[in-house]
Amino acid sequence: MPAKIIDGNEIASEIRNELKKSIAGLKSKGVIPGLTVVLVGDDPASQVYVRMKGKACEELGLYSETIRLPADHKEDDLLKLIDDLNANPRIHGILVQLPLPDHIDETKILDRISPEKDVDGFHPVNVGKMLIGDPGFLPCTPHGVQELLIRSGNSPEGKHVVVVGRSNIVGKPVAAILMQKKKGANATVTVCHSRTKDLPSITRQGDIVIAAMGVPQFIKADMVKDGAVVIDVGVNRVDDSSAKKGYRLVGDVDFEAVKEKASAITPVPGGVGPMTIVMLIKNTVISAERTTEHQ
Ligand code: GUN
Repeated sequence: MPAKIIDGNEIASEIRNELKKSIAGLKSKGVIPGLTVVLVGDDPASQVYVRMKGKACEELGLYSETIRLPADHKEDDLLKLIDDLNANPRIHGILVQLPLPDHIDETKILDRISPEKDVDGFHPVNVGKMLIGDPGFLPCTPHGVQELLIRSGNSPEGKHVVVVGRSNIVGKPVAAILMQKKKGANATVTVCHSRTKDLPSITRQGDIVIAAMGVPQFIKADMVKDGAVVIDVGVNRVDDSSAKKGYRLVGDVDFEAVKEKASAITPVPGGVGPMTIVMLIKNTVISAERTTEHQ
């Protein structure tokens, strides 16, 4: 039987509705959650993501600003901008879109963002809290994957989750989140990567397979077991002369073939993508709530 399609737009909309109540509560206290997104350079995919983040903020009545800087912007000036944003009481969340141009040290930039405003969850303090299981900020895409699993009725509890990809943005944190001794986690997690030997023999053991290595349509039908739940985090542009833009988006999973074997699967687009954005809004709202609690 073909897989159930997990609709990320629908689940993200459910979370947006929940957030509306929190946003209204903050507004009644005179607080508007504020997010600044910083984009350096003109990477086409990043431009699309940044636009979508700003639009989502606007729709929910958040204050948002996007700072677009040229590709040759100096690292020192970017650090100074982050210092200003850290000190700005109107801004509860700061996000520097990755990747950054080569002349800018990504670690140095992420370290400079105040952990209290790090709504991306990339600061080492928040990464450490995530590993320990303390409340900080969870990174948006991995947290979105967890919410998708839970809310689509595919709880990771007790399941064998096989993660393919070990990036700091998705692979490592999704493994850390799903292995937590916590409700909605408690999974047995295996992380595979480009040096893994006989990768298909491992992915075939997964009750849940999370594809996050950034290789178009890498996960084929013979790499997943019957009835597996497949979460596709990949967003890859592939040339397509029949498409208006000259390209189309595909995930890291061979969707058409794998959907015949899986019990549930996320599409690209419309799966994990909308979840990343709504979890960013959620972190910004949480940050604003924490600030008001301390006043
Ligand atoms: N680039 C790709 N995904 C992300 C993300 O979640 N946050 C940031 N800041 N950059 C990204």
